[in-house]
Amino acid sequence: MNKFSFTFQMAPLFHYLFLFLVSSCAAQTSFRPKALLLPVTKDPSTLQYVTRINQRSPLVPVPLTLDLGGQFMWANCYTDYVSSTYRPARCKSAQCSLAKSTACSVECPGAPKPGCNNNTCALMPDNTVTRVATIGDLGSDLVSIQSTDGKNPGQVVLVPKFLFVCGSALDGLARGVVGMAGLGRSPISIPSQFSSAFSFRRIFAICLTSSSNSPGVVFFGDGPYRFLLNTDASSNLIYTPLIKNPVSTASAYTQGDASSEYFIGVKSIRINDKIVPVNKTLLTINREGYGGTKISTVNPYTVLQTSIYKAIITAFGNALSGVPRVASVAPFGLCFNSTSLTSTRVGPGVPQIDLVLQNNDVFWRIFGANSMVQVSEDVLCLGFVDGGVNPMTSIVIGGHQIEDNLLQFDLARSRLGFSSSLLFRQTTCANFNFTSNA
Ligand SMILES: *[C@@H]1O[C@H](CO)[C@@H](O)[C@H](O)[C@H]1NC(C)=O
Ligand SMILES: *[C@@H]1O[C@H](CO)[C@@H](O)[C@H](O)[C@H]1NC(C)=O
Ligand SMILES: *[C@@H]1O[C@H](CO)[C@@H](O)[C@H](O)[C@H]1NC(C)=O
Ligand SMILES: *[C@@H]1O[C@H](CO)[C@@H](O)[C@H](O)[C@H]1NC(C)=O
Repeated sequence: MNKFSFTFQMAPLFHYLFLFLVSSCAAQTSFRPKALLLPVTKDPSTLQYVTRINQRSPLVPVPLTLDLGGQFMWANCYTDYVSSTYRPARCKSAQCSLAKSTACSVECPGAPKPGCNNNTCALMPDNTVTRVATIGDLGSDLVSIQSTDGKNPGQVVLVPKFLFVCGSALDGLARGVVGMAGLGRSPISIPSQFSSAFSFRRIFAICLTSSSNSPGVVFFGDGPYRFLLNTDASSNLIYTPLIKNPVSTASAYTQGDASSEYFIGVKSIRINDKIVPVNKTLLTINREGYGGTKISTVNPYTVLQTSIYKAIITAFGNALSGVPRVASVAPFGLCFNSTSLTSTRVGPGVPQIDLVLQNNDVFWRIFGANSMVQVSEDVLCLGFVDGGVNPMTSIVIGGHQIEDNLLQFDLARSRLGFSSSLLFRQTTCANFNFTSNA
């Protein structure tokens, strides 16, 4: 794992320019959408969640790996980038201050083109899969996206100057993908830019699916979020505060940067209502930014600090002692012969795992469909992996554990709303009706 820390001199912030930027960003269209959406599919070989953003002039679909905690959208602009509307962000411009860029690339040798312009501010696009960060120009281009009434896709709307960063670290990303779609806590993340372009509340939601042909969905803006047959997944959410980690968790960062990832306050863990003994210190974020619990779409499975991992494996194994174990299959450490397990509406009948939040009555309950992974016809493994003795974050809730759960990030109120398994409501995240009614 590479870890660099760069320190740049802070550029002064121009507040009046910031206001100017926000108003000039507003979409030049009379139709004002209430919410927007992006379809998301799962890539079967990398287990990454992939979306497509229509960008450039003429518009092309740009495939990107979804990165829930990512700081912004980054994409390869060095090859096959053709657009008449690309504009570099000039050093000290409002766009650079909004993006908190403190680095200026003064001169780029050669003819100007996307990713190579004089006097352009730079940021560090982060491939959070391989943890390789590069340095790249900030620029803007046209983005087109479908609006939604919460039930179907509607009219397409345009954002003329959508900010993104040129990046080139594509190794490790799904085939065909040319960058990452960052939904993190940052003024230029995708949700931030859409909310300011269309003046809606800073809320977005993700509903991911394991299906590689029927897409799941990201909604920007508030609900309803309706799934067939007419289930509004934004109703009856359970809420927990979103927590800020004051220390960046990115592969490269400027000293003093906070993390753009979403942390929640897991206070304890229960299996079949029994407390699993874990070291509480690991559950809180310390001054160096270590510890705590975050949610990630880049990790396919939940990753646990070694002592927490061992405690969960032991407790889960004990709670399922009646079911024959089979040899474990990497990367998992606890596997069962599935022919001895019952099946329920919410997956294999196994002990429920509760992540207990702000108090004992608020918990995220993980059922079989989200805890167990089918690795072969009659082998099911507990879908948690060992993250080592000293990872920066003690619990990283990964993709398999959030599929078919709706997660709504309300940045204005700094809270996460979660639905628990939609399978209980006889629907799934693959059940959004993508037939347009525009
Ligand atoms: C940058 O400026 C130099 C000196 O003025 C010029 O020779 C070069 O072509 C410019 N490069 C770009 C990419 O604009
Ligand atoms: C709990 O974890 C903290 C942080 O890693 C460590 O310093 C401490 O020694 C651990 N306590 C026990 C009892 O293992
Ligand atoms: C699972 O149990 C069934 C029935 O006892 C047996 O036929 C099968 O071989 C077992 N599978 C494994 C992987 O042990
Ligand atoms: C999906 O939406 C379309 C367009 O509104 C509608 O005609 C169709 O009946 C919907 N499908 C289902 C299964 O409800």
